[in-house]
Amino acid sequence: MKIKKAVIPAAGLGTRVLPASKSIPKEMLPIVDKPAIQYIVEEAVDSGIKEILIITNRGKEAIEDHFDYSPELEAALEKSEKTDLLESVRKCANLADIFFLRQREIKGLGHAIFTARPFVGNEPFAVLFGDDVIISKTPVTKQLIDVFLKKSLTTLGIKEVKESDISKFSSLSVKNLEDNIFFVDDMVEKPEIGKHLSLYSILGRCILTPEIFDLLEDLPPGVGGEIQLIDAIKIIANRDGCIGVDFEGTRYDLGNKFGMLKANIEVALNHPEISEEVREYLAGLKID
Ligand code: UTP
Repeated sequence: MKIKKAVIPAAGLGTRVLPASKSIPKEMLPIVDKPAIQYIVEEAVDSGIKEILIITNRGKEAIEDHFDYSPELEAALEKSEKTDLLESVRKCANLADIFFLRQREIKGLGHAIFTARPFVGNEPFAVLFGDDVIISKTPVTKQLIDVFLKKSLTTLGIKEVKESDISKFSSLSVKNLEDNIFFVDDMVEKPEIGKHLSLYSILGRCILTPEIFDLLEDLPPGVGGEIQLIDAIKIIANRDGCIGVDFEGTRYDLGNKFGMLKANIEVALNHPEISEEVREYLAGLKID
């Protein structure tokens, strides 16, 4: 069995990075010279995925344009023989078969995933959150797929978060199986202070099985009045268990201002064109 499809929910309002995300989707905000969502699409492609559904919302047409041809721009770059730039622009349109669907009402991540049912059909699929960029040696989605193919259980990308932050995330009940692999039998979304199950949280990636759609269909609204994906995953965890993979990689939450800044600094430090300048600049910064 192969995982051939990925869903990228990117319909959220991005209120934490306003006003930057007022007319530009937060997923299109750059990390140095590429929009965040391109890193995520590339991760899916590098994990062997051929078909990708991006779930958008009104006002997010820039995402579609980014993954389309741009004939006038390409003709101008061709004429001026800017071959490298031309290639980088064409690459965006040729990465994979990318489909788009609008989540007409913003009713939560679980609702967004439910709208993907006709695209996914009856096979396991990967979910990559549209505002979580993860830089790693092996693409994180591939790390999860490799484990899913061995264990055949819903597989979650997990990491420990700071105790002071756990109330902003999910909290998982975990038992270590081997190395970075955990058995997960329960979870709670945004636990009240002191009521967390562990500091492990689901962060940005998972491999789901199609039964998630039946569960989402009947789910009442959860935390924040939204249909929460985690409420459906919890039913599976309580019944069969899930697998948590403490993945290798650094995750940047592009949905918050500090996350966006960290991603830019760290990617810039290793970017072949500007790395030296950036290092010199940062070393010379005087911070009061
Ligand atoms: P977030 O809660 O992090 O994104 O959702 P948000 O709603 O844009 O954040 P705020 O407004 O700054 O708090 C996690 C992921 O789920 C998607 C988001 O786009 C993000 O990738 N999402 C969320 C949807 O696609 N639809 C929804 O109804 C809610």
